[in-house]
Amino acid sequence: MTPPSLGKLWGIGVGPGDPELITVKAQRLLHHCAVVAFPAGRSGHPGVAQRILSPWLRPDQHQLPLWFPYVDDPAVLTAAWEQAAETVWEHLAQGQDVVFATEGDASFYSTFTYLAQTLQRQHPEVSVEVVPGVCSPLAAAAMLGQPLTIQHQRLTVIPAFYGVEGLEAALEAAEVVVLMKVASVYPQVWEILARRQLLHRSAVVVRATQPDQVMYRDLTDKPQLDLPYFSLLIVQCE
Ligand SMILES: C[S@@+](CC[C@H](N)C(=O)[O-])C[C@H]1O[C@@H](n2cnc3c(N)ncnc32)[C@H](O)[C@@H]1O
Repeated sequence: MTPPSLGKLWGIGVGPGDPELITVKAQRLLHHCAVVAFPAGRSGHPGVAQRILSPWLRPDQHQLPLWFPYVDDPAVLTAAWEQAAETVWEHLAQGQDVVFATEGDASFYSTFTYLAQTLQRQHPEVSVEVVPGVCSPLAAAAMLGQPLTIQHQRLTVIPAFYGVEGLEAALEAAEVVVLMKVASVYPQVWEILARRQLLHRSAVVVRATQPDQVMYRDLTDKPQLDLPYFSLLIVQCE
């Protein structure tokens, strides 16, 4: 008997939260793919990607939550990526296409990258394709009603806080700075922005485009904010 041809892995960005901010292509793939994978939620709650994609699924599709821990330990992360890649491979080897849905964009600080790289290391014959999505800084700027960048402005995106010097250097080098994962370091960031008199030019967007979105437009009187993980900060330095 001829073995089935391999399935293909699609990495699709499903946008920042609003289910309508999903591309037509992503919606089509979500609706037609036999297997739909996504990061598993926490504490019995569906994850963000799972919530965004759920309106577009058919009842007969195989849903595949994959576990990715929120830790920095490389050994723990590698083990999780290898386990997830092996789970996806079981379906691809049977000739089933797999869509992996990721919040925002699939190439922008996304778990999908690690999953795809691990899978292709283990099984180089696997074909992978990415469908871009709306990433969170663009969604946040739209919700604030302001352009992210104009004309000559340089944009720096800081994926996580690498200390005072890192942020200071970014604020020197660019006209617009976006800080991802700002929640746990917000008080330190506030001090730096205060020293540089940039608080009135800074905004935080929490859960952009989601029903419980919150925006703080001028941080001058906000040295403390209780922010969740899905928060980012935009500084317009000039
Ligand atoms: C691992 S990154 C994922 C980025 C995502 N792939 C994207 O395209 O936006 C997680 C960080 O993205 C930011 N983020 C993602 N979605 C967001 C949203 N809807 N509102 C605000 N920040 C968001 C937060 O800073 C969060 O800590």
